[in-house]
Amino acid sequence: MGFDEQEYTKALLECREELRAFIDKMNCGPIMVRAAWHDSGTFDVSKPGVGGANGSIRKSEELGHDANAGLDKALRYADNFKKKYPVLSVADILQMASAEAIALMGGPCIDMRYGRLDAEDCPQEGNLPAGNAPFPRDVDSKQHLRDVFHRMGFSDRDIVALSGAHTVGRAFKERSGTTEFGYGSKGTPYTSNEEHAARADGGKGLGMMGGQSWTKKWLTFDNSYFKRDGDNNLLMLETDSIIANDPSFKPHFDRYGESQGAFFNDYADAHRRLSELGATFAVPGGIKLPAYGPPSKL
Ligand code: HEM
Repeated sequence: MGFDEQEYTKALLECREELRAFIDKMNCGPIMVRAAWHDSGTFDVSKPGVGGANGSIRKSEELGHDANAGLDKALRYADNFKKKYPVLSVADILQMASAEAIALMGGPCIDMRYGRLDAEDCPQEGNLPAGNAPFPRDVDSKQHLRDVFHRMGFSDRDIVALSGAHTVGRAFKERSGTTEFGYGSKGTPYTSNEEHAARADGGKGLGMMGGQSWTKKWLTFDNSYFKRDGDNNLLMLETDSIIANDPSFKPHFDRYGESQGAFFNDYADAHRRLSELGATFAVPGGIKLPAYGPPSKL
């Protein structure tokens, strides 16, 4: 049977509504953004055919890679939508959840295309970045970022813009192990205090508690990642530190701290490309949906 674009588009539109409501209710935007990025971020521009935004992270072989620790939850959420909308690819559900989460959390609208096909082959382990040394090949954090992101076809400016996604979300001792702060009450005052308002609309609700965030309002997508002071409750990986200080990254870092508009523009452009790495679309040019308009809840 051929690909029915009309049927697919209808499912995309319905799924988009439901994803928004679900993410808003669960406060799970950050983990959905991370899941989509870990699907696409395995791409290697020199080896087309393996890796990229092709849903291969749904397979236990890839989900079990160390870098994906904790993402089984996001894939379970995505799978519930797949069960309801079997015609949609998991690749599309993941990328849609990420883009919608960013808009919901107050970030830019990303010019998305849909119709990705799911792949059966998984990339080898080791394509996603590490936050702290030791880095592969014993390089420093700057070279590590360049190794990983230039391999995907990104520039230094893209590296800084995309790192700004850490304006939302947290790290956990039990997942990446890059922090001492763990699940539940073992988090920071910003992640384990139910009274703390992290959402863009000022509402309460943290989803699962715990972990260490990069910013205070870690359910709000803004440019505060680029304007942090030395607050010990906030996370700073070696890779975060190098983009704030290295002469090739710092000018972009400072510009995004001064202008949220500049960050949103560059972020939206880089994220769109990230969401399409290695993707095969069922129809030439992919499927564009009508603009959603501003999130009704914000
Ligand atoms: C620059 C290199 C990067 C490194 C070294 C890195 C590393 C990490 C680490 C260690 C965590 C914590 C995982 C955990 O313990 O649960 C994390 C979380 C996260 N990352 Fe990155 N990341 C990078 C780039 C990106 C990019 C490009 C994006 C998206 C475009 C992204 C989005 C996220 C999000 C949203 C979270 C929070 C997930 C949650 O709250 O559950 N990261 N990252």
